[in-house]
Amino acid sequence: MNSRSAAGQLSTISFIMFRTTLFPRTMLVAVSSTRGRMLCTTAKGSKLRHQIQQHTEVSRDHLTPEIALHLITPSCELWKCKDQAQVPFSDPYWAFYWPGGQAVARYLLDNPKTVCGFHVLDVGSGSGACAIAAAKAGAQSVTANDIDPVAGEAILLNCSLNQVNVNVSLNDMIGKTCFEWDIILLGDVLYDTEFAQRLQPWIKSLQNAGKTIFVGDPGRHAMNVIPEGNLQLLATYSLPPQTNLENRGFSTAFVWKIL
Ligand SMILES: C[S@@+](CC[C@H](N)C(=O)[O-])C[C@H]1O[C@@H](n2cnc3c(N)ncnc32)[C@H](O)[C@@H]1O
Repeated sequence: MNSRSAAGQLSTISFIMFRTTLFPRTMLVAVSSTRGRMLCTTAKGSKLRHQIQQHTEVSRDHLTPEIALHLITPSCELWKCKDQAQVPFSDPYWAFYWPGGQAVARYLLDNPKTVCGFHVLDVGSGSGACAIAAAKAGAQSVTANDIDPVAGEAILLNCSLNQVNVNVSLNDMIGKTCFEWDIILLGDVLYDTEFAQRLQPWIKSLQNAGKTIFVGDPGRHAMNVIPEGNLQLLATYSLPPQTNLENRGFSTAFVWKIL
């Protein structure tokens, strides 16, 4: 790929990812999924899943190739699409595997004892990759949480691809006690200062309640909401070239534990 086409693709991706106000919707719906019946939800869900399959490709071109994901890649029409009207999804964050999420998932797969036997909540799950990694690592239960209903359907598809059982919740959990879970995963959710400021007191309250919290991040400014003294660095990963391209030059991602 020459640098000109790479730049063109980058601007298209940015257009898709950042074009509207962030996260205007909240749905109070919880969908439980188990292997074999995870794709039998509503007609609307079925239509969304069809659209996701149509506009993405199954990719393993990331830090966790053992996890297959429906993603928008350079081979997809939407990668090059310049016409907003042709994009069937609003803010398809779930269609990209973010650097912080890749780092958390890699860490769980390489350190399964971290989650094995525990109840795990993946907040801002997107494609569901961190939740899938936790399930593969032997977590007793895993809930993938995202407020985007399309992400919910993408997570179901991705769980099916990877043959894991994960519960999907579309509730907004920010501020909730989360007593059902031992471990909270935050894969690249500190990407925006306003959202990070909303998360910060909640992260603190979860930590005070004894939860283990893992954060994945490539070095974004919004990480500053968590004081350095409250972070323990667990792992550093070099990102693959395609992830660099999609993320404006971030070449490394870190996994932190909140102290
Ligand atoms: C940057 S993406 C990260 C996705 C995934 N963790 C990864 O690393 O690939 C952030 C995700 O957070 C979700 N999100 C935003 N606000 C949320 C909220 N209040 N509760 C749960 N998820 C939220 C978005 O829909 C989006 O899928």
